[in-house]
Amino acid sequence: MTEPIIRIENVHFAYNAQSENPIVALTDINLEVMPGEYLVIVGHNGSGKSTLAKHLNALLLPTQGDVWVNGMNTKNGAHTLTIRSTVGMVFQIPDNQIVATVVEEDVAFGPANLGVPEDELRERIDWALDVVDMQNFRHRAPHLLSAGQKQRVAIAGAMALKPQVLILDESTSMLDPAGREEVLSAVRRLNQAGTTIIAITHYMHEAVEGDRIVVMEAARTVTQGSPREVFSQVEELRALQLDVPQVTELSYALHQRDETFPPNLLTVEEIVAEIIRRKELEVAT
Ligand SMILES: Nc1ncnc2c1ncn2[C@@H]1O[C@H](COP(=O)(O)OP(=O)(O)OP(=O)(O)O)[C@@H](O)[C@H]1O
Ligand SMILES: [Mg+2]
Repeated sequence: MTEPIIRIENVHFAYNAQSENPIVALTDINLEVMPGEYLVIVGHNGSGKSTLAKHLNALLLPTQGDVWVNGMNTKNGAHTLTIRSTVGMVFQIPDNQIVATVVEEDVAFGPANLGVPEDELRERIDWALDVVDMQNFRHRAPHLLSAGQKQRVAIAGAMALKPQVLILDESTSMLDPAGREEVLSAVRRLNQAGTTIIAITHYMHEAVEGDRIVVMEAARTVTQGSPREVFSQVEELRALQLDVPQVTELSYALHQRDETFPPNLLTVEEIVAEIIRRKELEVAT
């Protein structure tokens, strides 16, 4: 049986845990992530998503409970470097993650610092730039690129470290729709090539990309399941002040008018196919 690549067991975390006013950010979190999975975490501002993400590469350690990465406990300092090279992280603002003045040097920065030999370094840069479709920009200056292109360079930089897991913490939120789509398709390709993805997002139509969605609210995980399972709970999500994808909203509204219409369609293609199917039935009868 395949072992989970990440195991979170009974994790509690408070900022300023020793002070008089600790801020509880994680309560009783239990979660396993399987190798190759594409997990999406959604939840209201301040629900604990980034705090949870930072536990997965030992940037934060649990106040109680344990986080295991490939069987290594994040509390064991001897494993910290291995854990950080297993779990890469891309943040919200691409500019803060770019260090060099030429794209390919930026992508090389992490692995070069780890002492990756020259030949392999070349290979890794080529591969990472291919995955994010930025080969043609390798000699450009990062600060002259669009926000979406910069974020793809940041992802290539994280990928050049060959992590098994890539965490994207609202990595598309500063981008325009075209930039978001560029980053999403790069992430999709990475996942198809076997990288485990954990994506935090406020965009519900991006959450549909995942194999599984975890919903957080007030430091807890409140619900999880496939996108279809989670977005079927339209009223429950609204109660948490979370949206469902616009397409699902439409599907749900049509279902309320005619209960034979499925309430939980996720993509435009599914809605179109359903409408065509119904038209054909009408014609046939
Ligand atoms: N460095 C910190 N020191 C103290 N409290 C913090 C710190 N970072 C986050 N918090 C608090 O911990 C809680 C969880 O924050 P976190 O950033 O994990 O939420 P989030 O779900 O990522 O929110 P957002 O959607 O706004 O990014 C919030 O109450 C927040 O105010
Ligand atoms: Mg956050």
